[in-house]
Amino acid sequence: MAYSLFAKKPIEKLEAELAGEQRLKRVLGPVALTGLGIGGIIGTGIFVLTGLAAREFAGPGLMLAFVIAGVGCAFAALCYAEFAAMIPVTGSAYTYSYATLGEFFAWIIGWDLILEYAMGASTVSYGWSKYFCKLLGLFGVKFPIWVSNDYWSATHALEDAAANGTMAQLAAQYSSLEIPIIAGIPFCLNIIAFLIVGVITTVLVFGIREGSRLNMAMVFIKVAVVLFVIFAGAMYVDPTNWSPFLPFGMAGVMAASGRIFFSYIGFDAISTYAEEAKNPQRDLPIGIIASLVICTLLYILVSAVITGMVKYNQIDIGAPLASAFSNYGLNVAALLISAGGLAGITSVMLVMLMSQPRIFLAMSSDGLLPKKVFNEIHPKYRTPHKSTILTGLVSGTVAMLTPIDILADMVNIGTMLAFVIVCAAVMVLRKTNPDKPRPFRCPAAHIVAPLGIVANLAMMTALGWANWSRLLIWLAIGVVIYFAYSRRHSHIGKESQIA
Ligand code: ALA
Repeated sequence: MAYSLFAKKPIEKLEAELAGEQRLKRVLGPVALTGLGIGGIIGTGIFVLTGLAAREFAGPGLMLAFVIAGVGCAFAALCYAEFAAMIPVTGSAYTYSYATLGEFFAWIIGWDLILEYAMGASTVSYGWSKYFCKLLGLFGVKFPIWVSNDYWSATHALEDAAANGTMAQLAAQYSSLEIPIIAGIPFCLNIIAFLIVGVITTVLVFGIREGSRLNMAMVFIKVAVVLFVIFAGAMYVDPTNWSPFLPFGMAGVMAASGRIFFSYIGFDAISTYAEEAKNPQRDLPIGIIASLVICTLLYILVSAVITGMVKYNQIDIGAPLASAFSNYGLNVAALLISAGGLAGITSVMLVMLMSQPRIFLAMSSDGLLPKKVFNEIHPKYRTPHKSTILTGLVSGTVAMLTPIDILADMVNIGTMLAFVIVCAAVMVLRKTNPDKPRPFRCPAAHIVAPLGIVANLAMMTALGWANWSRLLIWLAIGVVIYFAYSRRHSHIGKESQIA
């Protein structure tokens, strides 16, 4: 007999699983969790995307864009914190949806989270390759174009340019860019991005403790660099650069907030470490909220300083923070910032590549994904090694082939959808399980949760039809897999058939 698409996983069952066999080591305290949050948040967004957002969308109003996106994320963060404290098992939004909205929504959200974490890792590794080439470029090392650019951009940009020309002209363009052609196919793959994903994946296979330590070191460096930008840059601020404050009006600010949303992604990753937290009920909300508040303040200050140092229409798009200093001839500072940016982006990759296998772990524990790959824990290192390696391979391969802007927007829209569902799930659970103890309660949930839904839906709308269609195609593939595999293997489904 077919079971309901919306069959729920009882919270008591989640609690029983939590009390049962300990799958992962509990080693993370509140500081480590906040560190992992900051590790996942400060990265490509602030170090790279700020330039484009200020120059083409918001001008000095970038500060306002950070406030708007930050508030949208704060609504979702409060809802995440309530869930993370109440259902402290790995799996994040996937698990929360299973307990509240039912299996089909849970699958959709789990599938959607691949966009956030695995594709997020691809996006960030792409940004890493650009910063890496830039940094080594300061020392005179030049990489060929075909090892730090994706296949799609290289082939499509040139084919567009040569649309009216001949194949011979196209071949000449490839050769002028020193892109090799093998068996008629241009060879241009972001191999640097693939390799850095490989290095981080290897670290993660050996253990979360090592990953967490490495992360803390990099978080320390990047926060120091961001503080350096704020305090040293403040001395070079010329307030006349802040005028006009909104050169593109509020519409520009809204468009910018949709883009720099990427800068905030990562705080929610903390909820995937529930099974590794020493005291999840107390420490997960602390980690989620503290890391978001700290980063929001830093972002607003950085954008005030950068738009005060450089006229908005002259801000560099590639490395805006470093270039603001080199504009003043402060090359050592620019070098420090570039190196710090690289460390910052590395730690974001670490968090994303660490979060994805933990979502898979939760999904395979419920039978929705094959256990053999996604549920195996390494006997010695106690890490989900197989799915960590698989995640690394997929993220690295996608980064080799796909342009960073398409990747970033896919990550944004996928994450916004996850935020919408988590806000909705908080409201559902308040109705269905009102008496369940909540170690952390989202304040004024009847206002905060709907506002979170509206704010994130508004940002999704601003991302346009192309991104919606990519999201819908991705979800459609997920639905096919659900009916072909997951629904037939679901534990809840099997239990309901026995009963
Ligand atoms: N928030 C992360 C970044 O900015 C994803 O790189």
